[in-house]
Amino acid sequence: MCGIVGYIGNKEKKEFLLNGLKELEYRGYDSAGIAVLKDGKIDSFRALGKLENLKEKTKNFFSDGFGLGIGHTRWATHGKPTEANAHPHSGDFSYIIHNGIIENYKELKDNLIAEGVHFLSQTDSEVIVHLFEKFIKEGFSSKEAFKKTISLLKGAFAILLITKNDKESIYFAKNAVPLIIGKSKDGEIFFSSSDAPLIGHCNEVIYLEDKSFGWANKDRIKLFVNKDKKEPQFVPLTIDKTYAQKDGYRFFMEKEIYEQANVAGETLMGRVCDNEIVLDELNELDLDKINEIKICACGTSYHAALTSAYLFERIGRIKCSVEIASEFRYKEPLLDQKILFIVISQSGETADTLEALKMAKKAGLQTLAICNVDNSSIVRLSDATLLTRAGIEKGVASTKAFATQILTLWMLALFIGQKFRKISKETLNLEIKALLHIPTVLQVKNSLHEKIRRLSKRYLHGHGFFFIGRDIFYPLALEGALKLKEISYLHAEGYPAGEMKHGPIALADSKLFTIALMPKNILYEKIKSNVEELSARDATILAISPLEFDLADDFIKTSMQDHPMSEFFEMMIITQILALEISIRLGNDVDMPRNLAKSVTVE
Ligand code: G6P
Repeated sequence: MCGIVGYIGNKEKKEFLLNGLKELEYRGYDSAGIAVLKDGKIDSFRALGKLENLKEKTKNFFSDGFGLGIGHTRWATHGKPTEANAHPHSGDFSYIIHNGIIENYKELKDNLIAEGVHFLSQTDSEVIVHLFEKFIKEGFSSKEAFKKTISLLKGAFAILLITKNDKESIYFAKNAVPLIIGKSKDGEIFFSSSDAPLIGHCNEVIYLEDKSFGWANKDRIKLFVNKDKKEPQFVPLTIDKTYAQKDGYRFFMEKEIYEQANVAGETLMGRVCDNEIVLDELNELDLDKINEIKICACGTSYHAALTSAYLFERIGRIKCSVEIASEFRYKEPLLDQKILFIVISQSGETADTLEALKMAKKAGLQTLAICNVDNSSIVRLSDATLLTRAGIEKGVASTKAFATQILTLWMLALFIGQKFRKISKETLNLEIKALLHIPTVLQVKNSLHEKIRRLSKRYLHGHGFFFIGRDIFYPLALEGALKLKEISYLHAEGYPAGEMKHGPIALADSKLFTIALMPKNILYEKIKSNVEELSARDATILAISPLEFDLADDFIKTSMQDHPMSEFFEMMIITQILALEISIRLGNDVDMPRNLAKSVTVE
């Protein structure tokens, strides 16, 4: 996810910009750039890959004395990660950096092209600088031109603009993407997309509201909200860096649970078009040669794989099997070249998954990675990769990586159904509608979180938890149990609800906690009778369902969704928050649970 910094003052601009971008590295990026306006001249540098590359490019550039600077790290959304697509983008005399998505960029771009504007990148962001310059050329002042530009943009944005037309000011705008302005005692002005780069440089900040825009120079900040003039309100800046990176959440895991709505949008971006799924990344594969899918993964990624097997067979109508990578490696598997071999990994470095991938390659299979980390070992080795775009995940217990893996696999199942004409147009349209609804489903409601927090105090003891579900809710039950055991150290198992009577029901008594996933769209009556059997044996039951269920001890009501995947994601959030709140009450280190590692690079 992109990062933004800006500076107005006398110090060496490059230094603050590069150090600030370094603080934002944890958000993930694939290119970076800066632009500095000093004495009427703008110098701009961009580089692909790590910040080190940008540092190298700017090593002979110095800019002390009064001036303005802007800097950006880019996480590709519209357009591939190339230097041309890196920010800042320029027109004839102005430069901009932008985070977010300009939803109506296509229409704006077409109009500008028709008027003779030449575009250098594939990004949505570039329209901003050309619009601005178009208004200047029509005779408007910089301020009027910026105002007019912002009023034409639809979507989410944090924008900084500098122009030779106004050598004193940085122009800014913010809507639905964070942007902060800071002020130092020496009168310097700073901009950043999060607190971390500002710490140590300024003591007061303004957290801009949505629909804000304005301009700042060394003497004053002119701010508008919803086009109305507003007096800037500075508040003290927190000085704890880790706290700043957590954006006020208690743990990275909590922040990452809340980020899911946003990152889901990133995962879908450019892949779900009007009425089809577009996965250009698969052009490297010859899918006509495959008639079966095999998936290998570990941990949470394995649960994503299990979920997707239902989707591949049900909607993609292709045979799919799933294996735990550490088991697969030593079973001397039979590998047919008609199999598409998929590995799923958040880190892209998990030793067992990597070895399974090597085996498949050796057997001549086509390979595909579903991965969150570009350029990781697994990505480099696979024939093709679908990046999940969750951004850096810090909590050891995986949350947003899981959500984006599921979304990616769901799109892939649809893509395969579409390619082999196994899915009707009507079904595809319904599935696409459901996919686009998921970012909304993933928004965490305060009332839900508070309810789970209160409930959690009743689940701190007992002799074990069973998470039960059927169909895709069975792997979700496995994942819910894994989350709980990873961070609470309580014993928890996921089980297919229909299987309880074949053994585990012997454990049922009031100290056995059953978390029952009871969606209305898949096998509701079946799971209901499975839960009734447990209730009859006095198990303590927490039912999660949109439909009232009287036999439960506790009940979390979910919303009435008409697609099972919407129910899936809503219940996923509930199980994540439940694990989080139980673990917090037990006083555990949620982000770094004992004995676990985020990336397991040994067998
Ligand atoms: C470790 C992590 C898990 C993760 C598993 C697989 O055990 O703690 O959260 O699911 O590795 O990791 P991968 O990076 O391959 O998805």
